[in-house]
Amino acid sequence: MRERITTGVDGLDDMMGGGVPKGNQVLLAGGPGTGKTLFTFAFVYKNAQLGRPGIIISLEENAEDIVENAKSAFPEFTGIDDMLRSGEITIYDAKKLMTALFGNPDMTRLELAERFFKSVSTQVAPIIKEAHAQTIVIDNMTILRIFFKDDWEYRNFAVSLHDSLKEAGVTGIIISELSSPQRSKLTFEQEFFEVDGIIMLYLREGSGEGADTRVRTIEVLEMRGTSHSLRTMPYEVTPHGLCISR
Ligand SMILES: Nc1ncnc2c1ncn2[C@@H]1O[C@H](COP(=O)(O)OP(=O)(O)OP(=O)(O)O)[C@@H](O)[C@H]1O
Ligand SMILES: [Mg+2]
Repeated sequence: MRERITTGVDGLDDMMGGGVPKGNQVLLAGGPGTGKTLFTFAFVYKNAQLGRPGIIISLEENAEDIVENAKSAFPEFTGIDDMLRSGEITIYDAKKLMTALFGNPDMTRLELAERFFKSVSTQVAPIIKEAHAQTIVIDNMTILRIFFKDDWEYRNFAVSLHDSLKEAGVTGIIISELSSPQRSKLTFEQEFFEVDGIIMLYLREGSGEGADTRVRTIEVLEMRGTSHSLRTMPYEVTPHGLCISR
């Protein structure tokens, strides 16, 4: 049986037979503020704790903000700074990518994204190798859509990204931004068709007495190589990580 890689979310591994089958590329999709970045931080952090180094490639937030937000949401995640220093966790934000790849920290983020991702198959492999990474996060894929003239070109890019990550042997989470946090308003973009798994995050409107609040819920829509729960479950942000509530 294929080795399983923890999602880093308490209770979620149990919904898919013990975790993500190693080497799968999983799309994590959700609307704004649904917890995508926190989820992926927990994924990389918990795997780093288990001796699997990881990389976060963030095209939007800078590395300091990602770390600050994670520390604030998860005060019980100790040793983050040590992990960053030792390279157990590597965060490539836009500035770091520009410098590392093109020796030019003054490109615009859009120029960077275009140059990096249009040749992603050659660019991403050395970064993974250097960090000895076993997990990778790309935050996020949706902003790259504007660089491709049509769905066909974008789909080709998604295939090439998927193949490069697969070849590198990493287990990946690729974030996709949905315009709505609602389950009933789901639409599928090209990136959804080139992955081995799909996890959705929603902010569902409450009902009855809770009608004026929203509930965070999570759903495993697809996961190749394993059976998985088809139930949408509520989850919470707790000091020790994201947890499925029972
Ligand atoms: N300390 C905290 N405790 C509880 N919840 C928190 C805490 N910090 C942040 N959150 C929640 O997490 C949300 C942000 O999470 P995150 O940045 O992972 O979302 P995202 O889906 O990546 O958002 P975006 O689409 O803007 O990138 C906040 O809107 C807030 O609801
Ligand atoms: Mg985010």
